[in-house]
Amino acid sequence: MNESSPTLGNNLDPWYDSYAARTSGLAASEVRALFAVASRPEVVSLAGGMPYVSALPRELVTGAMDKVMAEQGPVALQYGSGQGVPMLREQILEVMALEGIRGSADDVVVTTGSQHALELFSKLFIDPGDVVIAEGPSYVTAMVIFNSYQADVDHVPMDEHGLIPGALREHIARLKAAGRRIKFLYTIPTFHNPAGVTLTWERRLEILEICKREGILVLEDNPYGLLYFGDRPPAAMRSIEEEGVVYLGTFSKTLAPGFRLGWALAPHAIREKLILANEAAVLSPSSFTQLVVSEYLSQADWRGQIDTFRGVYCERKEAMLSALQEHLPELSWTNPNGGFYVWLTLPETLDSKAMLPRAVKELVAYTPGTAFYADDNGRQNIRLSFCYPTPEQIRVGIRRLANVIGGELDLLETFAGTGQLNSIRMPRGAFPPSDLR
Ligand SMILES: Cc1ncc(COP(=O)(O)O)c(C=O)c1O
Repeated sequence: MNESSPTLGNNLDPWYDSYAARTSGLAASEVRALFAVASRPEVVSLAGGMPYVSALPRELVTGAMDKVMAEQGPVALQYGSGQGVPMLREQILEVMALEGIRGSADDVVVTTGSQHALELFSKLFIDPGDVVIAEGPSYVTAMVIFNSYQADVDHVPMDEHGLIPGALREHIARLKAAGRRIKFLYTIPTFHNPAGVTLTWERRLEILEICKREGILVLEDNPYGLLYFGDRPPAAMRSIEEEGVVYLGTFSKTLAPGFRLGWALAPHAIREKLILANEAAVLSPSSFTQLVVSEYLSQADWRGQIDTFRGVYCERKEAMLSALQEHLPELSWTNPNGGFYVWLTLPETLDSKAMLPRAVKELVAYTPGTAFYADDNGRQNIRLSFCYPTPEQIRVGIRRLANVIGGELDLLETFAGTGQLNSIRMPRGAFPPSDLR
């Protein structure tokens, strides 16, 4: 850039001053920044949410691919419809029926992963300054999107039974009294990411009732609902309420994320807009992967494959909880009945974000709780993922983590000069006390 350039920029990026205002929140998340370090083989990563795709027999996928290419090659290699392949949309209804959802294939919009459905939905609904209500904590990359559309995320606290309806009522009243425009409630009711908890049936009814009365749309994000370890979780919120809920599903956790296939089930008017937004963004979702997944669903024992995943993740969760019990018995954590994540609460004196470099040095990675809040909360929490590492790696990882935590407490004790470990307050539960929310 020469001196007469109208663009100011800076040394690192000459276009620094040209970006749209909405990009100001686009910074690498803690999770993303971690991937580079945590992917070193000597590090046990309890950080990412990568499904264990090795549990999917490859021939199931190659068989489907070969058949698609042999029988529908020209269609698979061509552009398709912005709404998605009709046959796949019918099959998606079968998948959703397992969670109590009844709907029409006309109301399903296939997207490039549910992440893209989150993006399209946000594009349709969020104006700068709008409020999105979400659980505290919430899924980090949904908040990145809400942020990029310049929404303010208002976190409503959870406990071990999920989002607290009374707190939701209070937050809505406070926001409305302040003249704020609430656009929707974003919720992950089943096997929550990152908290691992599940919203009870009674609370599902109550929260839907509150949202209906207040005129607030519900965005139900449900990637993990079929990955239960014991009893089935309560049916999806969309099974109770049709007009007030937009439901998001994905094949990422029950098949493989590499297909990048998800979907939205939406009331007719919203569905129409989602299709237009999908076309504007990608013209059509990948014909090839839609047809391969459709073939897989027609030919393979996909329900049996989900059972296999359930077994793998259940064993890993047990390994994590027993290692926590053995090495960190004075701490508390959630006990997920499905999904990928455990939410650990540290002693009040520790800071999960500040502790991370020391943990990585000790060859264990985790995601600090701060990644899951739009505000400054979560320092006392850690998200531990049990989906990808083997049970043995999980045991090693938790032992290392316990060493790191022990080392931090020792340091604090030394510098506090008390000489009393008891003076370091231990947590009371897996969620922060209400004054910290
Ligand atoms: C809660 C939640 N929503 C959405 C996604 C995005 O999933 P995908 O785009 O792979 O369907 C994830 C991925 O981890 C998630 O945990």
